[in-house]
Amino acid sequence: MRTTTEIEMKRDIPSIGEVDLWWLYASDLNEAERARCWAWMTPEERIQQQRFLRPEDQRMYLATRGLVRSALSAYTDIQPKEWRFTTDTHGRPWISGPRLQPTWIFNVSHSRDLVVCAITSQGDLGVDVEGIDPRRDILGIAKRFFVPEEYTALLALSQRTQQEQLFSAFWTLKEAYMKARGMGFAIEPQWLHVSMQPTLSMSFDRKVSDHPHRWAFSLGQLHTGHSLALAVSWGSTAPIPPERIPANAPNAPDTEPTSIFAHPPDAESTLPPLRDLGYRLVAHSAAKGLQVRLLHGREAIHAQPSVHTTPAKTPVTPSP
Ligand SMILES: CC(C)(COP(=O)(O)OP(=O)(O)OC[C@H]1O[C@@H](n2cnc3c(N)ncnc32)[C@H](O)[C@@H]1OP(=O)(O)O)[C@@H](O)C(=O)NCCC(=O)NCCS
Repeated sequence: MRTTTEIEMKRDIPSIGEVDLWWLYASDLNEAERARCWAWMTPEERIQQQRFLRPEDQRMYLATRGLVRSALSAYTDIQPKEWRFTTDTHGRPWISGPRLQPTWIFNVSHSRDLVVCAITSQGDLGVDVEGIDPRRDILGIAKRFFVPEEYTALLALSQRTQQEQLFSAFWTLKEAYMKARGMGFAIEPQWLHVSMQPTLSMSFDRKVSDHPHRWAFSLGQLHTGHSLALAVSWGSTAPIPPERIPANAPNAPDTEPTSIFAHPPDAESTLPPLRDLGYRLVAHSAAKGLQVRLLHGREAIHAQPSVHTTPAKTPVTPSP
């Protein structure tokens, strides 16, 4: 029999114009939560997890599988353990079972301790999260991988922290798109031109064989300094023939605003204290309306039945 919490957790899968963004910090998971995640993994995933040498990498792998499985199960009676995944040519994971019509789309990103999983019911979706790293040679990377206008925009900033923020914005927006296409770095970052002035917009080199009009982009910042970008399209997934793409085509004018709203706290919740993500929307392209809902991944993990979990035997490296 399902508990009240589980019934409450069965929510509507996001439809066109909506994305759910589930997140958690891997080090926040306690022993019982890690044991649940472990119990849901396939034997292959468990072997893969044990291959990581560093405890923090093992923890991240476990938290990612637990987050994806429990978040997907938040919309359905399919149990976290029942999900099966496959990867395509460039490594993008898909749901291979149980069969859904149409299949739901998810994408994962992690940076240090943070894991995010974006979910929607159809279309193409990519998410990327990046932390601030003061040791990075951002100007060197930008000179090599960004378009000249982006590099110049970075050079124009006098403070290193401002440069870091703009660099992360460019990088996460590009990577979110590269991931939404499922191609990763098979699409070169310099084929994508991000502009933050006067509003967030993107233009594509002809080699990309796609058009920015199909896409909505959203950029946020977390209190930790992380940048978080989403690229979403509910339009046709067929690449546009290069001859039909006008050179330097402008993005569509603003139509609908993007909004981000936090998941309201559950008064009945018995969860341990949840850390705040500290999400702040920085910019969005308004080519298409995009509603993003922030959801705490530990709630999804808690909402699932705790059968088959054996904390004492779970070979998961404890948190520091
Ligand atoms: C996808 C890619 C850009 C991610 O880079 P990253 O910044 O290191 O990682 P992120 O944390 O943002 O995202 C990693 C997650 O993206 C997902 N992912 C992996 N490949 C992906 C792809 N091609 N498209 C979309 N998502 C992908 C996975 O869920 C992965 O998490 P997991 O390994 O825990 O399952 C990079 O790995 C890449 O370019 N991969 C393509 C490699 C390729 O072409 N391989 C071909 C032979 S398999």
